[in-house]
Amino acid sequence: MSKTEQMISLEIDGKKVKAFKNETILQAARRNGFYIPTMCYLPKVKPIASCRMCVVDIVGYDDPVLSCQERVVEGLKVETQSEELYEHRQNIMKLYDVNHPLQCGTCPKCGECDLQNKTLEFNVSSQNFSIRDQQREIQDWGNVTYDPYLCIMCERCVRVSNEIVGDEALQISPGGYNSTIMNVKKDDLNVDWGECAAVCPVGALADKDFTYNSNAWELTRIPASCVHSSLANLIYYEVKRGKIYRVRSDFEHETISGLCRYGYDFENRGSNSDEDMQKTLEAFKDADTIRFNSMITNEEALILQKLKELHGYKLVNNEAYRYQKFLQAFASTSGSMTYKGTSEGIINSEYIVVFGTRVATDSPGLKFRINQSSKKFKSQIIYMHPMEDSSIQNIVTQLMRYEAGSEDAVLALVAKEILKDADVPKDVAEYFKELDDGYLSAESNIGEEEIVLMQKKMAKKSRFSFVVGSDLYAHPNAENIAKMLGLIEKYGNFDVTIIPPSVNTLGVSLICDLDESIGEKVIGYNNVGDFVLSALEDAGDVNMPALNQQEGTFTNLNKKVVPTNVALPFEGFCLNDIANNLGLNRRYTIDYTPELPASSGFQAQEFDKLTNHFDVLGEELRGYKLDEKTVKTTNELSEVEDIESFDGVVIYFSNPNNQKNVFTNICEHLGSNNDLTGSSQFAVAAKISDGDEVKIEVLGQTIVRKFRLDEKLKGTIGLLPTFDMGYEGIAIKAAYRFNKAKIQQVGK
Ligand code: SF4
Ligand code: FES
Repeated sequence: MSKTEQMISLEIDGKKVKAFKNETILQAARRNGFYIPTMCYLPKVKPIASCRMCVVDIVGYDDPVLSCQERVVEGLKVETQSEELYEHRQNIMKLYDVNHPLQCGTCPKCGECDLQNKTLEFNVSSQNFSIRDQQREIQDWGNVTYDPYLCIMCERCVRVSNEIVGDEALQISPGGYNSTIMNVKKDDLNVDWGECAAVCPVGALADKDFTYNSNAWELTRIPASCVHSSLANLIYYEVKRGKIYRVRSDFEHETISGLCRYGYDFENRGSNSDEDMQKTLEAFKDADTIRFNSMITNEEALILQKLKELHGYKLVNNEAYRYQKFLQAFASTSGSMTYKGTSEGIINSEYIVVFGTRVATDSPGLKFRINQSSKKFKSQIIYMHPMEDSSIQNIVTQLMRYEAGSEDAVLALVAKEILKDADVPKDVAEYFKELDDGYLSAESNIGEEEIVLMQKKMAKKSRFSFVVGSDLYAHPNAENIAKMLGLIEKYGNFDVTIIPPSVNTLGVSLICDLDESIGEKVIGYNNVGDFVLSALEDAGDVNMPALNQQEGTFTNLNKKVVPTNVALPFEGFCLNDIANNLGLNRRYTIDYTPELPASSGFQAQEFDKLTNHFDVLGEELRGYKLDEKTVKTTNELSEVEDIESFDGVVIYFSNPNNQKNVFTNICEHLGSNNDLTGSSQFAVAAKISDGDEVKIEVLGQTIVRKFRLDEKLKGTIGLLPTFDMGYEGIAIKAAYRFNKAKIQQVGK
């Protein structure tokens, strides 16, 4: 059925309008441009129905109804405005205003407060009743503060913590006028409060980074895309006099993680000069390699590709190279250049397999979407990983813990089960038939009963997603893993999402012809090299603008090309200026936007024509989606290989909740804990204790860290952050994530 066939007719305030079957009166009214006031309504959670501001009359009904809950029906006649309704709404505002402190002048929400706005709208200029006040303390919750005096108990924060973020950290402590919001996870440092503060209509939950810093109305909003996650969510940098004061989101429709919200002050305050340009050009003359990372725009990636074509530079980006190879292997069996999965598809799935990623910290935004699915559809969430993760255990319905290194054996078992009744080509059927289950189970430690359970749970569900991540891309048998995933997507009814590790790994892998290894002289662009161009102030030979000082596009996880804009100026030249001195010729970097390669699905669209917002009903109008490209399939699968044994002390490269890369590392409002963490079992195996200073030898590097015992962790694998290792950490991040390590206590 087409969208228009699903529409019905009704009347709002005497005007005939169309609405979708199943939408609420409020949604239909908004779609058709009618205003109904609300306080508790938040489109991305189930109707809260706590404020009663949205009441409307319906002709033929005795009582008014809540428009945020009541669904439309054919022929309905709705009245949104009347004297009675106004009085009803005014009385609600009077109740909300009871004892609400008159401190608007110092409240961080002043100028953007719903209570302030609606108090004026409903003309509540005096208060003829009050209640006895209570002594209530302002509470400190990580990045935010909670002031119970200001709280109007709309419950939005509780719903968001539960239905969106998945921390389930807030509850209502009931008590009439003494009701408050209770934090039930006070000691949990992993709770993400930013999204709860973002939806608070008043100043009760307030971001500490903004309190007493600026007035909302003094700030200029710059629409952009988050650079710390491959979701590249829509964000707004809010700027005044050359400084970013905060990041805001379109909180009604979009959800961003704390990393995006608080990781904004990574601009390069340094500059470069004509002399620097001369030095840079000399270095480019000497060099045969440009090594870079995936925190660059599509346009910059194209500039590098063109420099390769013109001068023969090798282009080295280990992370994107592995991802590119993985994607190509996936395409060789799925038949499409990229994967089908999207974040929206994940939210709407009923059965989600998460494999090869510690998703809560690798991609917190995606963890939110998995949680949304779990809350919306009571979805099955199958979490396959060598380590449990307590931060998502509340949504995981089946944990399949396998031996580190055995990812290909695990996937072979799972793929065999998923594809057993599918109409696969003969050679594929033959391949899976010949796999020895006993051997695969012994290698991976996944028993037959776990696979049977997984299959059983599948039976009652529809809309399947398979979400995979960075543990797989550098696996010794990554190619075969990718090919099996391609078959799962093509024949197994699953939409696969191959999470790009950085904001533009997907874009780089579609634009650049990457090389595996470096030559003799390397230009590092935000990476290790003999001559380093760096967006970290004075960390290299020449300063470059950071990503919040550039315009251009990213290709995000959803295969959309989304724009980002300049939030702050940079004093000096950028990559495009260097390229223009090396034989290319475009005035601005964004002149390359329409030239992005059509062969990879990019469209010839001008940068300035790209949109970047949500419409009133939450439809994402951002950039454009890559055209789908088909690829010839080959179905050449290889042996599932013996794995190296991971006995002894093993570490896993994994960043903490609020850190990700060299740029988040310099952000003031993100945490900076770089401790090696592990369970008591790990501590025993490594012969170390909580608080020890330890020397870790891994991948030829020696790293000194504090060890922190984490009682929530289990098993003998420790977590080692990489975000603070500078450009060396970027190289490490591209390696296989599990490694044997030598650990030695060197101090207390
Ligand atoms: S803290 Fe804010 S969002 Fe939460 S209930 Fe109070 S007013 Fe509503
Ligand atoms: S918006 Fe409907 S009850 Fe609050």
